[in-house]
Amino acid sequence: MPDLEIIETVRWRDGMVRILDQTRLPAEEVYLDLATTAEVIEAIRRLAVRGAPAIGVTGALAVAQAAAQTGGNAAPEWIARVQESARAVADARPTAVNLQWAVDRVVSVLWRAAGSGASVEALRALALAEAQSILEEDLALSAAMGAHGASLLPQDGRVLTHCNTGGLATAGGGTALGVVFEAVRQGKRAFVYANETRPLLQGARLTTWELQRAGIPFALLCDGASAWLLRTRRIDAVLVGADRVAANGDTANKIGTLSVALAARAFKVPLYVVAPRSSFDLSLADGQGIPIEERDPEEVLSWPGGRVAPEGAEAWNPAFDVTPAGLVSGWVTERGVERPPFIETGETEA
Ligand code: MRU
Repeated sequence: MPDLEIIETVRWRDGMVRILDQTRLPAEEVYLDLATTAEVIEAIRRLAVRGAPAIGVTGALAVAQAAAQTGGNAAPEWIARVQESARAVADARPTAVNLQWAVDRVVSVLWRAAGSGASVEALRALALAEAQSILEEDLALSAAMGAHGASLLPQDGRVLTHCNTGGLATAGGGTALGVVFEAVRQGKRAFVYANETRPLLQGARLTTWELQRAGIPFALLCDGASAWLLRTRRIDAVLVGADRVAANGDTANKIGTLSVALAARAFKVPLYVVAPRSSFDLSLADGQGIPIEERDPEEVLSWPGGRVAPEGAEAWNPAFDVTPAGLVSGWVTERGVERPPFIETGETEA
């Protein structure tokens, strides 16, 4: 039975945004209380908090914090100033649409209430309430995705996963890895092959930590070994998360997902994307418009603890890739197992 205790990845604590610093895992469990917008942005950029749903929740709480810290009495001018901070938070990382979605959701609540004459004090409370709702909803969405996804796994399932898509990537439930947790909770057996996920090793550091904590057996493998795994061992499903899904189903996720998807198709293993509807960007017809974050080449040139490549070496470090919709067997959302065209029905619901 997995450890059912939810990981408190990100929470609101006395005016601070409290995060579990994921750069310190698995060696240490250290919580950081982020006191300003600048501190939140820095934490998102350096992946102290990461994973699309988790940075969405963090962004929403950061707007509530900016609202609490921004002075003024005239609502329109005050919102415009809060919105400047919100924009900076939304820009901290470009690919996961959840960040922009959550930040915009809090800001639009402020404009709506200001239009009905709410005071700045009331708006501050509303911003926090909306951010807290996004956090609570995220937990419910994880549970719903887990339930829908678990039905795809056999009684004794062997799964390949990439990056970290567990509680650490959300407010605490998980997307793709949450499906495995739910399957085990239901009494199924699961064995997880976890790609290490170069260069920042979310698989090696975080997925293994979560699986160990939950008592689920696993094997860690180098990213380059996953095609051979799919070729030589019985794997029932590849389960991955998403940072942004376009209207046609093209899916941006951690760099390396495309290679796994191509190998899965070649060896006839179904690949499911597990993501809440807040990771869908139906304004984009296809994946070509998805902004792909490129990070510091130093992350590739080094291995934790030291430099690997010689001085003067260059590197290319895209943090995400886009898997064409045709390589995906289904998108597990809070609504069920979906396929394009995705119906837009307004607010995300649990
Ligand atoms: O760079 P990261 O660690 O934020 O990338 C995270 C991923 O790519 C996850 O697979 C994605 O956000 C979905 S997680 C629920």
